[in-house]
Amino acid sequence: MDEEMSHEPVMVEEVIEFLGPCKGGVFVDGTVGCGGHARAILERLEPSLYVGIDRDMDALKIATMRLNPYSQKVRLYHGLYSGVREILRDAGVKEVGAFLLDLGLSSLQLDSQGRGFSFQKDEPLDMRMDRGQELTAAGVVNTYSASELERIFREYGEERWAKKIARNIVSTRKRFPILTTSALAQVVEWSIPKKFHPKKIHPATRVFQALRIEVNRELEELGEGLNVGIEVLAHDGRFLVISFHSLEDSMVKKAFREWEGRGLGEVVTRKPVTPSAAEVERNIRSRSGKLRVFQKG
Ligand SMILES: C[S@@+](CC[C@H](N)C(=O)[O-])C[C@H]1O[C@@H](n2cnc3c(N)ncnc32)[C@H](O)[C@@H]1O
Repeated sequence: MDEEMSHEPVMVEEVIEFLGPCKGGVFVDGTVGCGGHARAILERLEPSLYVGIDRDMDALKIATMRLNPYSQKVRLYHGLYSGVREILRDAGVKEVGAFLLDLGLSSLQLDSQGRGFSFQKDEPLDMRMDRGQELTAAGVVNTYSASELERIFREYGEERWAKKIARNIVSTRKRFPILTTSALAQVVEWSIPKKFHPKKIHPATRVFQALRIEVNRELEELGEGLNVGIEVLAHDGRFLVISFHSLEDSMVKKAFREWEGRGLGEVVTRKPVTPSAAEVERNIRSRSGKLRVFQKG
């Protein structure tokens, strides 16, 4: 594993700018991934301590190598960002000056062999960000009821053919278990009439996204992470979230507004900040990114 396998961080300049007032303080990076944002922050904002958390051991191995020059100031943890309170206790920290979440998948997860996140490769249907976890995408696809599958595809994937796809999955798995990405992609393709296949994306994109969210409990994690994050943030501390999914972005927007309404501080970004055209051209995966910032006070 090396830099080649790594992940290009999104909106780095914007993140640095919004974190400027937190210079020199304690930072928590709840999704440190391959350490892209972390390295830029360590180089330019000179934190007194940088606590990086990720549920993916492969990503943490890369982050450990990349952040080695700053090892005196960095503490990396394998875990969930919703568990930040226990992690901070371990690090001997009571409150933090900045909390960053960069949600979604890293390129490392999407591009690595055998992780099962992409329908573009034929692989076991896995999709676990933490490979120590029990539930896999194959587990969801082969054990959930048709109505549970339909709900997941509709809610998390905004898939209008959710019912038909769920029914076809259930009838297919009576004959043989659906264990690979291509077997699932085929069932989805068959379920959507050709004339309704989306033009710009693969017909299985939404179902894959929905399954990934379910397997990794991504929305529950975000809800818990927001609740605990605002509590560990110091006065004047900043909470930054980059999301790539409309459900995540609306959760963040709602939480920030609610905090403001409760007098906990103020929303710094009235509208979400999005990557520049030049960044999208350079890194197409940045295109749906939205950054929101809240300042406690
Ligand atoms: C988009 S990547 C972050 C990339 C990172 N900012 C960088 O510059 O390299 C998202 C990371 O968040 C991790 N992740 C997602 N949900 C998590 C959670 N609930 N707790 C901890 N890590 C999580 C994933 O494993 C993945 O490595």
